[in-house]
Amino acid sequence: MIVCVCKSVSDRKIRASIAEGADSFEELQFELGVATCCGKCEESVREVMAQCGICESHCGVERPVPVSLPPAQPMPITFYERKAA
Ligand code: FES
Repeated sequence: MIVCVCKSVSDRKIRASIAEGADSFEELQFELGVATCCGKCEESVREVMAQCGICESHCGVERPVPVSLPPAQPMPITFYERKAA
């Protein structure tokens, strides 16, 4: 699928570039020219980067870890409901 229309760059090209070592948005801009014309593809490029496990902050976290919370307990609303609980 074409990600950057202005430069005719597909997601496959972006993935290939990442596989060859590109590890930042700026590097992809330099290597492929993505988001250097109208800039509308920036979010999509970053999305492909995230899918490839590239964290823009280079913090080492590949993907956000979903936090599982315990199921919410219904809150007693009235005085009598609170008293009964
Ligand atoms: S669509 Fe990528 S710069 Fe325009």
